[in-house]
Amino acid sequence: MLPADLLLTTATTSYAITVGPGLLETLPERLETLGLKGKIWLISDHQVFPIYGPRLEKPLKAKGYALETFIIPAGEASKNQNQLWELYTWLIAGGVERRDTIVALGGGVVGDLAGFVSATILRGVSFIQIPTTLLAMVDASIGGKTAINHTLGKNLIGAFQQPSLVLADTLTLKTLPLRELRAGWAEVIKHGVIRDAALFSLLEKHASELAGNEANSTFSLPEPLTGEVIRQAAAVKVAIVSADEKEQGERITLNYGHTLGHALEAATGYDTFLHGEAVAIGMHAAAQIAHALGLFTTEDVERQENLLSSYGLGTTFPSNVTAEQLMALTLHDKKVRNKRIRWVLPTKIGAVSVRDDVPEALIQTVLRARKA
Ligand SMILES: NC(=O)c1ccc[n+]([C@@H]2O[C@H](COP(=O)([O-])OP(=O)(O)OC[C@H]3O[C@@H](n4cnc5c(N)ncnc54)[C@H](O)[C@@H]3O)[C@@H](O)[C@H]2O)c1
Repeated sequence: MLPADLLLTTATTSYAITVGPGLLETLPERLETLGLKGKIWLISDHQVFPIYGPRLEKPLKAKGYALETFIIPAGEASKNQNQLWELYTWLIAGGVERRDTIVALGGGVVGDLAGFVSATILRGVSFIQIPTTLLAMVDASIGGKTAINHTLGKNLIGAFQQPSLVLADTLTLKTLPLRELRAGWAEVIKHGVIRDAALFSLLEKHASELAGNEANSTFSLPEPLTGEVIRQAAAVKVAIVSADEKEQGERITLNYGHTLGHALEAATGYDTFLHGEAVAIGMHAAAQIAHALGLFTTEDVERQENLLSSYGLGTTFPSNVTAEQLMALTLHDKKVRNKRIRWVLPTKIGAVSVRDDVPEALIQTVLRARKA
């Protein structure tokens, strides 16, 4: 492990999260260090693979690794049972063995699907995450949650499957569409609000440089700052998952902004907002709820709103979604217990509390006030 790596330790395993520029080509030596000598089953999507696939394939073959590749269509729709079955068929027909390794190259969609396949094929084979979106680097690739969607809801069929390694090559963000980049910033900002005031301040300090370049859709932040910000944001997730792998306690705090964010995604048919965009709106609403309860100051509500806006994220619910619709949808949230919504609410920048006693009337008031 390099000194700059983060280490995630659970009751049963421990693995490195490595963040930096130009890491893709280091995969073979990292596999060797981990003692992973079997065949590599690379899963990617049709947008990511043509850009970055060859940068993995070449060094793997040069080191003598046997390699098979499967490319799925890009996008959330691939997290379904048909795609899952196709992957199983590919693996079984190709003679997958327990000593082999599945490598996910892509965003959270590829990671969630490939991770679930790796958890279930032959009752589990090794798994490596190579996230290529900002969201996946700071969130989805870390912590071992894997899933596919059911027609009745998102991420309902899944497993905890910790990877053996997370390799986040920050140079891959150069080709990430600007909107996807912004959606990722929502999760980075979320990590600052829930647990790391220094990260939040760093994001504020560099807001103008970091916000992405509108003109050419590139990631405008120079290294090593990019890597540093991503590493700090990833460290928040690492710390939380290390303390609470199976979401018995603190892991719920990662859900900040997600209760109303998920409701908004559902209310708009999952095709209007990217997940991060919906989470940003949910974070602002949660901050306002916290403020109304006397937990969060006006200044902190504004600081969060300003930061979200600096990173190109909106904070307003669209006018075609009613407060009643959103309220009804929040009750379907996976975090609901005994029909009570558990709200993750900020108490200051860098700290949150979990409350299940928020009066419905107060939530309705905040939701109505936020209409565009
Ligand atoms: N397991 C978890 O803990 C967890 C946490 C958060 C989200 N998720 C899941 O993650 C998924 C969303 O992930 P996402 O936001 O990464 O979206 P995504 O995987 O759909 O990727 C977004 C788009 O960007 C493209 N892309 C990815 N990397 C690129 C690159 N470097 N250059 C150019 N294009 C690139 C993809 O092809 C896709 O079209 C959801 O399914 C969500 O449920 C999982």
